[in-house]
Amino acid sequence: MSNDVFAPSAAFVAQANADESRYKAMYEASVADPAAFWGEHGKRLNWIKPYTKVKSTTFDYHNVSIKWFEDGQLNVCANCVDRHLGRGEKTAIIWEADDPKLSKRISYRELYENVSRFANVLHGMGVKKGDRVILYLPMIPEAAYAMLACARIGAVHSIVFAGFSPDALADRVEGAGAKLVVTADEAPRGGRNTALKANVDKALKRVGGDVKTLVVKRTGGDVAWDAERDNWLHEEMERVSDHCEPVAVNAEDPLFILYTSGSTGKPKGVVHSSGGYLLYAAMTHEYVFDVKDDDVYWCTADVGWVTGHSYIVYGPLANGATTVMFEGVPTYPDAGRFWEVCAKHGVTIFYTAPTAIRALMAKGVEFVQKHDLSKLRLLGSVGEPINPEAWHWYNKNVGGERCPIVDTWWQTETGGILISPLPGAVAAKPGSATLPFFGVRPVVLDEKGEEIAATECEGVLAIADSWPGQMRTVYGDHDRFVSTYFEMFKGYYFSGDGCRRDKDGYYWITGRVDDVINVSGHRMGTAEVESALVAHPKVSEAAVVGYPHDIKGQGIYCYVTLMDGEPYDDALKTELRNWVRNEIGPIASPDVIQWAPGLPKTRSGKIMRRILRKIAENETGSLGDTSTLADPSVVEELIANRAG
Ligand code: WT7
Repeated sequence: MSNDVFAPSAAFVAQANADESRYKAMYEASVADPAAFWGEHGKRLNWIKPYTKVKSTTFDYHNVSIKWFEDGQLNVCANCVDRHLGRGEKTAIIWEADDPKLSKRISYRELYENVSRFANVLHGMGVKKGDRVILYLPMIPEAAYAMLACARIGAVHSIVFAGFSPDALADRVEGAGAKLVVTADEAPRGGRNTALKANVDKALKRVGGDVKTLVVKRTGGDVAWDAERDNWLHEEMERVSDHCEPVAVNAEDPLFILYTSGSTGKPKGVVHSSGGYLLYAAMTHEYVFDVKDDDVYWCTADVGWVTGHSYIVYGPLANGATTVMFEGVPTYPDAGRFWEVCAKHGVTIFYTAPTAIRALMAKGVEFVQKHDLSKLRLLGSVGEPINPEAWHWYNKNVGGERCPIVDTWWQTETGGILISPLPGAVAAKPGSATLPFFGVRPVVLDEKGEEIAATECEGVLAIADSWPGQMRTVYGDHDRFVSTYFEMFKGYYFSGDGCRRDKDGYYWITGRVDDVINVSGHRMGTAEVESALVAHPKVSEAAVVGYPHDIKGQGIYCYVTLMDGEPYDDALKTELRNWVRNEIGPIASPDVIQWAPGLPKTRSGKIMRRILRKIAENETGSLGDTSTLADPSVVEELIANRAG
């Protein structure tokens, strides 16, 4: 924990959307009377039917219910597109392809036409208000068109990251009960093409019912075609009008479902609302990123994650900003790609993840120095705590020591940023997400679930009251929503993260306190990897934990027990790695597999993960109490054969 403090320059403060006194006044007002505060700020959206009720929320365990603006009606797409047609020539999206020679700019007018046509195509295929549509797409403008087109007709999109396997895709198509999958022939990334359409074909073989596809021709690569089921987007777009009336939806109608990993079971479908979500995404985007009309804003995330939803598409477009969409990877054609793109498009605000910074840091500073980054004025970080070394490198080499860095803590569930400095208002400390956004009431709880009153403390991070961007339910399983987030600590939203609060009231996230690990900023349930491993015919048992990894933040460490008589050999390790990639996707690829003929279990048969974590972290000197183990010798054996 570093004590360095980095205050924004006077020049930055002078032009900022909020300085310290404005932040403090607005924050005080927001927590003193949330309904009055959000009722006022809700007016930044266009409402078809204005709301009269603002906040109806309770975290009471018996009765959890979250509703914002519940009698208001709006259309999210109209707020992101039509509303800006008064200056329709402004660039809405700058698209940068995987191939550095290819990019294009899409104005708000062009966005309007494309989205309207796309919405008419969806209508023509029978998609109605409330229907779920799966999007499995590269980072191409059509991904934004598809999201907004769903919103325009009141359909609910559920994006599946294009790196997920056909099996993971099939689970989500089934889980969401979708009748349409929007995809592309292939997804180019880092000079290689992933066969998305072929993955959809495999997934749909497993899914029952009548699911259609709509396919973007991205590369023109070969695809198998089922004329009954598959439709080319470009052909359908030509057949329809470029006008489509946006439908009125209720503020509480779902805008999207996004599957995310938890500590147990299959990924859950996080449901976000239309009104509260959009307001929260737009407002955090404006204040945290200090966005002005002439900014060129780039968030390097993928639309397959919540960061892409809130801070590539919905927040920026609701604000009429210019948002960059990047199809490629940071290291192709070389490790200077991010900086090349910043220079090429005059990026002023840049938002990325610590894992990317660490990876680029390792390639050497010459890749940064080759490019003109003088237009940058603000940097952001998201996904995991940023280690001070990466922070300083980012600050010095990318930000030229003149750009504030906003370290933004939030989650798929929170819809938008909850803890982050406003860059003109709050001095940064490397590694701390600092202070809460308007309306957010973080608390630190002890093991008994009591709020710790002392400013300086450590415990678990929870939130005491609702904010408009909060998830509303788990799709199809409200009980799981309640039990995951509101049961352990009654009366609070439980984040799953541990944290420390320092003498200045700054929050320092210390990582997950549950069985969720953070691999390259991607969230992974250890239970998911375990269930993929035990699905292999030769595996009898598996236990998965995280361990510190220089680039990824955490790596995936797997202890595997084989069926009786199966030989423990290296070829099988490779086979298991590929197996997990096929079951879930490359992001779940095990970093370390250790053969574990025995696992440390209590006498009641519960695996003691605490011990496995220590062994994986190579902290075998501090294993703690092992006296409750059924067979303590198992631990000696695992330590002796520690892998990696
Ligand atoms: C988990 C949420 C929110 C978009 C990206 C990830 C960790 C996220 C930070 C940060 C420390 C962070 C937390 C959180 N996390 N941002 N700035 N500092 N930790 O979304 O996949 O839902 O993961 O990511 O552990 O709970 P997600």
